[in-house]
Amino acid sequence: MSMYRGRRLRMTQALRQFARETEPLLREDLVMPYFVVDTEDATYAKAIPSMPGQYQYSLPKLLEAIAKAYDMGLQAVLLFGIPKAKDPMAQEAYAEDGIVQKAVSAIKQRFSDLLVITDVCLCEYMSHGHCGILDAQGSVVNDATLPLLAKTAVSHVQAGSDMVAPSDMMDGRVRAIRDALDRANYTDVPICSYAVKYASAYYGPFRDAAQSAPACGDRKAYQMDPANGREALREAMADIDEGADLLIVKPAGPYADVLARVRDAVTVPVVAYQVSGEYTMIRAAGLNGWIDEERVMMESLLGLKRAGADRLITYFTETVLAQGLVR
Ligand code: PBG
Ligand code: ZN
Repeated sequence: MSMYRGRRLRMTQALRQFARETEPLLREDLVMPYFVVDTEDATYAKAIPSMPGQYQYSLPKLLEAIAKAYDMGLQAVLLFGIPKAKDPMAQEAYAEDGIVQKAVSAIKQRFSDLLVITDVCLCEYMSHGHCGILDAQGSVVNDATLPLLAKTAVSHVQAGSDMVAPSDMMDGRVRAIRDALDRANYTDVPICSYAVKYASAYYGPFRDAAQSAPACGDRKAYQMDPANGREALREAMADIDEGADLLIVKPAGPYADVLARVRDAVTVPVVAYQVSGEYTMIRAAGLNGWIDEERVMMESLLGLKRAGADRLITYFTETVLAQGLVR
């Protein structure tokens, strides 16, 4: 019997390409997250120190950034808002003239075929930074939070959002949002649920960027325990049952096992969110000259596709497009 020689299929570029299991990145794989600030200063573009290369933008500056990326092939964005004022009921989250609502309508006006996804959560708008309403003891109240999330989602869609992405991890929020959208006659607008979202330290830089760190305590009473894999399947199934059209797994790289299991368990599209901390670690090592940043970036994204991600939310989207690293 002749021996197995795995190297036979690695000998030439043509053979390697022929035997390849995962396709190269496509531009429609990528979703770029943006942070938009409610400010009168049209020129506002503040670098986020813990996320080199990422900015908080005023709406005019955001439109500029999107225009540039759009010309390079940008297909989809995920919007986060930073309001003028925060309060214990997150009123600017669902205000008609809230920053996300204003941004969505301006973006859709100018780039009508760009897919605009809006993150639905309250933490950026809450004075205390939690993703839901707090009771007198300081714990997040699930059911009383649902109507606010539903109102937020409807207001985003009214402004022109193509798809809402609830990231709060309250139980029953997908159903509450689906019902509210349907009642407002938005039966055709899909929900991309952050179904599997861990209580992760990898969100640290994002909380600087969105100014949404909880003032006290942490998110462990609503986001998932990083020790749990099977629980991800329960969360995924529950959200599908409630009406989610697509699912997000987040963070992505450290949870590639979870991504693979979720991919096997469901038939809806699965989106991996390579979060702020994952981005920042690669950037930091790259800026120090300790790794080949472009190759590590591409390997990190390929790894997520291999693990089963259908689409990727990544802060590297602009870079990948600018370097022409997609088909
Ligand atoms: C809001 C939200 C967070 C992220 C996305 N939506 C932060 C959090 O839950 O604390 C994290 C994204 C990232 O780290 O890039 N709930
Ligand atoms: Zn939140």
